[in-house]
Order: sequence, then structure tokens, then C-alpha cells
Amino acid sequence: MSDRLQDTSNIWITGASSGIGEAVTRALARGGHRLVITGRRKGALEELASVAPEQIRCAAGDTTSKEDLQAIAEELEHDGDLDMAILNAGTCEYLEIAEYSSDVIEKNIHTNVIGTARCLDIALPALRRTRAKGKPATIVIVSSSAWWFPFGRAEGYGASKAALSYFAHALRADLAAEGIDVVVVSPGFVKTPLTDRNDFPMPFLVSAEDAAERIVSGLAKGHNEIAFPKRFTWMLRILGALPRPLIDRMSASMARKSNNEQESNG
Ligand SMILES: NC(=O)c1ccc[n+]([C@@H]2O[C@H](COP(=O)([O-])OP(=O)(O)OC[C@H]3O[C@@H](n4cnc5c(N)ncnc54)[C@H](OP(=O)(O)O)[C@@H]3O)[C@@H](O)[C@H]2O)c1
Repeated sequence: MSDRLQDTSNIWITGASSGIGEAVTRALARGGHRLVITGRRKGALEELASVAPEQIRCAAGDTTSKEDLQAIAEELEHDGDLDMAILNAGTCEYLEIAEYSSDVIEKNIHTNVIGTARCLDIALPALRRTRAKGKPATIVIVSSSAWWFPFGRAEGYGASKAALSYFAHALRADLAAEGIDVVVVSPGFVKTPLTDRNDFPMPFLVSAEDAAERIVSGLAKGHNEIAFPKRFTWMLRILGALPRPLIDRMSASMARKSNNEQESNG
């Protein structure tokens, strides 16, 4: 067991207004932790905070907006030193190859990479103050396992999550000397409003509550890499280790099937 989450912790979580972030918020609140929750939909945050009003503070805002983040910064240490930042806010926009537009790529990168990087403008100074007092300080970045294999239509999403994982791992290297942990979470398919829009089969889909349980227990155990469900992530690892021509053939055949289905549905 690590010293993370052992005592009551002050935790900032982004993307808390639905899906994985909401489920993680509920799980951490049940564990007695104090939470600052962020998302753009104030009403959804307030509803969630009402489950434990003495433990949950709402700090609504857009994580890509430096201005919104400046206002959120004032909330992060309201209940004491910030122990952990869970940067989970994200989007998934698929590319329709017949109507190629770089806007799709930009939207994914802007929210998933730039938004997450901007959150650290405010979280890192607070976590450094915590660490300077000899206490554990942890950054948790919710990436994805989707980029481990080249899926058609996922050019923007996959590229954003590949960039985000690289960002997190390089950050881990730089912050090691300061003793600040960087945890990378790489989920497979989780049932949330984000995946409810998907019109293709999602193997080994898990519930948001199940995902939250795996994330919180992985954090408490001190893991720095949390990937689940194992059946899906191992399948991707094995596929990703195949020779490139084989990967290319498989991913082209999957993309052709998916694009044909799109055409016949549309
Ligand atoms: N579901 C999956 O299968 C899966 C798999 C791998 C990784 N992930 C990752 O897990 C994270 C959570 O996804 P989810 O599935 O739980 O989706 P979700 O239910 O759509 O939740 C996304 C959250 O991000 C927030 N958000 C999006 N853009 C934002 C912005 N610009 N500023 C502030 N908040 C923003 C949304 O809040 P507002 O709308 O209120 O702003 C919402 O709370 C994402 O990073 C996603 O890529 C999900």
C-alpha cells in the first residue's frame, strides 16, 4: 500500500460532470476525501456535489480557457494543501474520411492535450507547495489505450491520447527529482455519455463505476500505470507488437468495414 489516499486528501478532478469523472468523484467522496470538481456544465456539477456537500466544491469552467482556470485556481487549496489532481476532462471526435477536415484533429488535441496541459499551470504550483511540506503529491492523467493500435476514424482522438501519454511520461521524468508522481490511466471502452454515441461494437465494455473502482484502487496501491480491462489492453498490446505490414492489413480491413457500415447507415 502506498501513502496515496491513506489520509483524507484534497483532490481536484476535471471532467467530473459525467461518465468516468463523475464515478471517480462518487468513489472518492465515499472514501471521505475532499474534492474540487470541474466541468463546463455547472448544473451537473451542483447535482453531483449535493451527494456530499460538505466534501465537494464546484469549480465550473472550461479547462482549455486560461481565464476560467485562473478562477478555478482560487478553489484548489480552499480546504488545505492540494494532494492530487486528476486530469480527466476529454472529448472524442471521429473523423469521417470522405469529408476530411483538420478541425476534427484540432478539437481533440485542443481539449485533450492543450486543456490538460493548461490545468497544470494551476495544479503544479499547488502540488509543489504540498510536496515542499514533505507530503505526497500526485498528478493523474486520464489518457486511453485507443492509440496503442491504429483504428480508422480515430486519427484525431488517437493522436491526442498518444500525445497526452507522451506528455505525462516526460513529465514523470522531469518531476521525479521533486518526488511528484505522475500516473497515467489508460482505459479500454467504458460505458459513458462519450461512448453511448459510438455506433460500432465495443469489446469488453466496462461500467463507469467499475472503471472508477479500478482507478481509485490502482491509485491507493501506488501504481503509476493503470490500464484496464486487462483482456482488452493485453489484446491491444499483442496486436501492437505484430509486424507493421500485418498491423496495416488488419487496421485497413477494420477501417474498410467500419466506413462501409457508416455509409450504409448514413
Ligand atoms: N469512455 C471511454 O471508453 C474512455 C476510454 C478511454 C479514455 N477515456 C477518457 O476518459 C475521460 C472521461 O471520458 P468519459 O468517457 O467519462 O466521457 P464524458 O462522460 O463525455 O465526460 C467527459 C467529461 O469531460 C468534461 N469536459 C469535456 N471538455 C471539457 C472542457 N473543455 N472543459 C472542461 N470540461 C470538459 C465534460 O464536462 P462538460 O461537458 O460539463 O464540460 C465531462 O465531464 C476522457 O478524457 C476520455 O478520453 C474514456
